[in-house]
Amino acid sequence: MASAEAAAKSLAGQADALGGLSVELIDLRDLDVSGLRHRIDVAFLACHGLGGEDGKIQGALDTIGLPYTGSGVQASAIAMDKKRTKELLRAEMIDTPRWVSVVPGHSVETTVSTARLTLGWPVFVKPVAGGGSLEAGIVRDGGELAALLKEPGGAYERFLIEEYLEGTPATVGVIDIDGTPTPLPVHTAFTDRPFYDYQAKHDLSLRREVCPADLPDMVTTMVQEIALRVHRLIGAHGVSRVDFLLQPSGRRPVLEVNTVPGLSEYGNLATMARAAGVSYDDLIRRLLMTAFTKPAYVP
Ligand SMILES: Nc1ncnc2c1ncn2[C@@H]1O[C@H](COP(=O)(O)OP(=O)(O)O)[C@@H](O)[C@H]1O
Ligand SMILES: [Mg+2]
Repeated sequence: MASAEAAAKSLAGQADALGGLSVELIDLRDLDVSGLRHRIDVAFLACHGLGGEDGKIQGALDTIGLPYTGSGVQASAIAMDKKRTKELLRAEMIDTPRWVSVVPGHSVETTVSTARLTLGWPVFVKPVAGGGSLEAGIVRDGGELAALLKEPGGAYERFLIEEYLEGTPATVGVIDIDGTPTPLPVHTAFTDRPFYDYQAKHDLSLRREVCPADLPDMVTTMVQEIALRVHRLIGAHGVSRVDFLLQPSGRRPVLEVNTVPGLSEYGNLATMARAAGVSYDDLIRRLLMTAFTKPAYVP
């Protein structure tokens, strides 16, 4: 909601420069897809997570032939699924934390012993299709993991178990500049909390942000190159944000990629853009244009 409101305000503010466009905020919860074709000319997608960032709305808009910003169906669906993303990363030899998938039909005991044997303790558990660090956390031993996986509500297949890695959370936005996907300056966040959790992401007093990150030039370049490779690997269009952990050992594993990054004016993407000399209005305008440059649909 914050993303959509900020982007809408920016677009409305530059309406004249954009040929007199008018802006309407539409909530996904009361969306009538079939009526959309007669209501708007282009959809600026600013919805995060399931339903908005996972290919569903993208597919609906493809079906009714309405241009929309950002990635198409496939890249959206891949990026929303951390397991599929990691399989692609591994196939391309791009570092990502080692992981154990929770296989449907396997008992909790089997999953816990696989995690113990392949990863050791502690592990980091997160939903395959989650975001915002919600439901994610450090799990110290087999008892704790079993308890978590057995929680009422079941559906523990939706969790992904990773090796726990210490490091600084970093992120790199990729945006189209003159038709070329271009990585932005690296953004790092420091927090005293056990990891970069929901609270730290939403309370400025719980984190310290540095952008451009204070890193040797070579590291910056490498991280940006990886971000660009990941953007292309999943087939993202127009914009993405690739999350990393920067470890003291020199490992820089990719955690995930977001195809609809947060768009608030002082959020990560806007901060990285500003560090590259791209103002917030300029960023939003560039994102709008991605609706008209998407290649013809390939699955
Ligand atoms: N394998 C891991 N080991 C340690 N911390 C992790 C690991 N994976 C994620 N984290 C922590 O959780 C945060 C969010 O993880 P991420 O994979 O980006 O998921 P989300 O979609 O919730 O943003 C990271 O910034 C980091 O602080
Ligand atoms: Mg993340």
